[in-house]
Amino acid sequence: MTSNNTFTMIKPDAMADGHMGKILAHIQAAGFRFKALKMTRLSQAQAEAFYAVHAARPFYGELVAFMSSGPVLAAVLEKDQAVADFRTLIGATNPEQAAEGTIRKLYARSIGENAVHGSDSDENAAIEAAFFFSGLEQA
Ligand code: RTP
Ligand code: MG
Repeated sequence: MTSNNTFTMIKPDAMADGHMGKILAHIQAAGFRFKALKMTRLSQAQAEAFYAVHAARPFYGELVAFMSSGPVLAAVLEKDQAVADFRTLIGATNPEQAAEGTIRKLYARSIGENAVHGSDSDENAAIEAAFFFSGLEQA
């Protein structure tokens, strides 16, 4: 299997709740390699752009406000089948429906404030990684 990349963010709820270190350890223990890592804070305009695909959804305003409410930790991760395996690791969007032991089950507050982002395709992983990191920053 060819090794490939996914993109993640630890969201403002998990950062504020002090879960950053545990989530990083969880990701590392699952066999992902960190290619890039950055703590930053999205402006409202940056959050709107990142989640533009959801612009027509009823929760878009809430999502943008939440994602720009505090710092996030952005990362590019490498592993075989990175996108699919990371989605399995984080669990369902709604933590109430997430499998036991998943990051969202363990650390998310709610469906809206759900601890982590994970890319949904190889194509989006590349777009999202480039949103946060230059090629030079991805080791
Ligand atoms: P993500 O993109 O952040 O990894 O999450 P996902 O694929 O599991 O879910 P997606 O459908 O892409 O939704 C993006 C984010 O929008 C918020 N959301 N709120 N209140 C709601 O009903 C609702 N639904 C989605 C969540 O923060 C979700 O992760
Ligand atoms: Mg998504």
